[in-house]
Amino acid sequence: MEKNTQHTDSFSLLTKGYVDAPIPKGIDLAQEIIRLKKEKNAVLLAHYYQENVIQDLADFLGDSLYLAKAAATVDADVIVFAGVHFMAETAKIINPTKKVLLPDLNAGCSLADSCPPNDFAAFKALYPNAIVVTYINCSAEIKALSDIVCTSSNAVRIIESIPKNQQIIFAPDKNLGRYLIKETGRDMILWDGSCIVHEAFSFDKIVSLAQEHPKAKFIAHPESESQVLDIAHYIGSTSGLLKFVQEDDATTFIVATEAGILHEMKKKAPNKTFIPAPVSDDTCACSECAFMKLNTLEKLYLCLKHELPEIVLDDTLIKAAKSPIDRMLELS
Ligand code: 13P
Ligand code: SF4
Repeated sequence: MEKNTQHTDSFSLLTKGYVDAPIPKGIDLAQEIIRLKKEKNAVLLAHYYQENVIQDLADFLGDSLYLAKAAATVDADVIVFAGVHFMAETAKIINPTKKVLLPDLNAGCSLADSCPPNDFAAFKALYPNAIVVTYINCSAEIKALSDIVCTSSNAVRIIESIPKNQQIIFAPDKNLGRYLIKETGRDMILWDGSCIVHEAFSFDKIVSLAQEHPKAKFIAHPESESQVLDIAHYIGSTSGLLKFVQEDDATTFIVATEAGILHEMKKKAPNKTFIPAPVSDDTCACSECAFMKLNTLEKLYLCLKHELPEIVLDDTLIKAAKSPIDRMLELS
C-alpha cells in the first residue's frame, strides 16, 4: 500500500521530467545541497559544462572519462549526476547497485539523439565484419550494439589498440571520427551525427578574432568541424584543453568548446585570458549547451531532497552496455 502511494507521489512530482515542488523561501540552496549530500551519503559528479555554482559544489568535476572512472569507484549510496542523460546512464551502467539521479531528465544531447538504435542496428548490419567503436555520447541501446566505447580523452588510444587490418565503424560523431581518421591514419566508416554546440562555431569569425589577438592560441574540442580543427594550435577533450592552458606559455586563448569550461580555466590559470570562440548565429548563446544548462541549483536541490528523478535501466540492457564500457576502462 505504502509503495503504491510512493509511486503516485513520484509520478505527480515528475510530470515535467524534474521535481516540480515548492522550495522553502529564504533557504540557502548551496548549503542545503551540502547538507543533503551528507545526510544521504550522496556524491555529486559534475561536468565542466554545468553552471559555475554547480561545478563549485561538485565532489568530482571533470570530463566524460574522469566522471565515468569516478562513477566506477565511488562507495556512496547515491550518485547525483550534474550532466546530461547519457552521462548519468553511463554511471548507472558502470555501478548498477547505486541509486543514480539526474536533476532534469530532459537534459539530453543532440549527438546522442542523432543516432537512433534501430537505424544504427541496420547500418551496422551492412558491415558484418566491422568492429563498432562508439563515442560515449550515445544512448545505452547504442552502447549495447558496440564493441568498445571511447571518450575524446582516450579515442586515439582506443582506435590504435585495434589491429590495423580490422574494419571499424565509428559512431555517432562524424567530426570526432574525421579527426581520428587524420590522427591515426585508419580508414573508418562514420555515422553521420554531430553536436549542435560544436558545429555552431564560425570559422570566419574565429579567423578574424585570431587576427585581432595575434598572440592568442586557438584551442578546440574534437567535436568541432574539420575546418575549425585545421587551424587549432591544440585539440583535446575538456580536461585536455584545461591542462593545455595551464602548461602552455601563451597568456590568451580562444576556446572552441562549451563556455562552461572557462570557469575552471579561470580558476586554474587566473592570470590568463580566455575568449569563447564566436558562433555563426549572433542571436543566441550557441556556445552554451542548452541541455547541460537545464540542470539548475533549484533542480539539483529538489533532486537530492526527493531522490528523483532516478535513472532506471533494464538489467539486460545494463549487461549488454557494460562490456564495451569495461573494455574502454581497461584500456584507459
Ligand atoms: P569531454 O569528455 O571532452 O568532457 O566531452 C563531453 C562533451 O559532451 C563534449 O560535448
Ligand atoms: Fe551533447 Fe554537444 Fe551538449 Fe556535449 S555539448 S552534451 S555533445 S549537445
